[in-house]
Amino acid sequence: MFADTTEDTSGLTTDRGIAPVPDRYDPWVEVIPANLAHNAAALRQLGGSPILAVIKNHGYGLDYRVVARVLEPRPEIEGFALVRADEALTLREQGVRKPILLMARVTDAMMKDLVAHDITLAVYADDDPSRLARLVVSKPAPVHAYIDTGMSRMGIRYDRAMSFLRSIAGTPRCRLTGTFMTFTEDAEFDREQLSRFQGLTRDATAAGITLGKLHAASSHSIFHHRDVGLDLLRPGMSLYGGYPDKFDEERTVAELRPAFRLRARRADGSAATRRQRELRPRVHRDEADVDRDDPVRPRRRLCAYGSQGRQGARRRPTVPGDRRREREPFDHRGGRR
Ligand SMILES: Cc1ncc(COP(=O)(O)O)c(C=O)c1O
Repeated sequence: MFADTTEDTSGLTTDRGIAPVPDRYDPWVEVIPANLAHNAAALRQLGGSPILAVIKNHGYGLDYRVVARVLEPRPEIEGFALVRADEALTLREQGVRKPILLMARVTDAMMKDLVAHDITLAVYADDDPSRLARLVVSKPAPVHAYIDTGMSRMGIRYDRAMSFLRSIAGTPRCRLTGTFMTFTEDAEFDREQLSRFQGLTRDATAAGITLGKLHAASSHSIFHHRDVGLDLLRPGMSLYGGYPDKFDEERTVAELRPAFRLRARRADGSAATRRQRELRPRVHRDEADVDRDDPVRPRRRLCAYGSQGRQGARRRPTVPGDRRREREPFDHRGGRR
């Protein structure tokens, strides 16, 4: 179960997904909006460019819909990148308006559907220019060219990319709005990859090809190769509070905060034992910040527990140490329950 609050989340229910309302007894993962926003701002400042937020793998386990809803209003966020077409479409249904980059290959039919929803396609296969040329669309499809500079996972090889870029740029049914690559995160080879990318983009630009926004930096590069910010950053894990490699060193460069916590309701409502308090994850430290930034959250949270929240202070769910909530007898509508 996932929730950024336990307020009514039915707005997230679609025919593709479930409403992440916590059950009475199950533990749940809770997104901490203030910390997610903090991390976006910290990475933006560190890397010096706007962020294409990677929310693949179900938003790194936190629910891509919740993460997108929290991050979209942030000025640091340029857009989102993911790898599943159905998730990209769900975001549009959910009302996400910022650019969405799908970093995957899809069928011709799906391509058309995605373009109709203004979702940016990643292009890198030899047949992509001809597939795009056949596309029946009312306006040119936005595409980003994915260049393989040595990672050998996805993308068109950098040494074969010039003619590919020419073909894409010459296809009136699409518009090249970005060009990107992925680092292997090996200090020495990253440098080689960057020089391959820079060589290609320099040559392409000199040949009159408009490449759009350039991007390469995942979390690791934002911390370790500060000169590869290019036009956009493309972090995943650090948005959620994860330091990419060397925690002790990296935390002196930028302070990241855990963007989630695991929560569970105590069945008996009693205070936690000392041992239980010691086992409490460190993210609870940030609770005061969250509540201050979004003061309606704890009150709303009470409402989602159904009858457990209505039977007076003793049976209300409490979080040990959260004195404010223990004292708070009102629901978010201001009435006594
Ligand atoms: C193409 C691409 N870019 C960026 C990222 C984000 O990487 P990280 O989570 O290490 O920041 C990923 C994640 O695997 C990715 O596949």
